[in-house]
Amino acid sequence: MSFETKKFTKLDVVSGKSYFLCQCGHSAKFPLCDGSHKNTSFSPEKYVATSDTSISVCGCDENKTVICDCA
Ligand code: FES
Repeated sequence: MSFETKKFTKLDVVSGKSYFLCQCGHSAKFPLCDGSHKNTSFSPEKYVATSDTSISVCGCDENKTVICDCA
């Protein structure tokens, strides 16, 4: 799935746990990185949850962070 077809994806997170969020759009486990970025210039962004909640991971390339602000 590419960034062009995704707006955002909800991800349930657990307080204190780290998540590596896909930046390249090639992960089969999007929004989580699965290592598919290997031959690209992208690398995953580490996100540490500060509470048990649901976050919106951005699927477009208009945002400066992986957390969507247009949801
Ligand atoms: S698979 Fe996209 S950043 Fe790792």
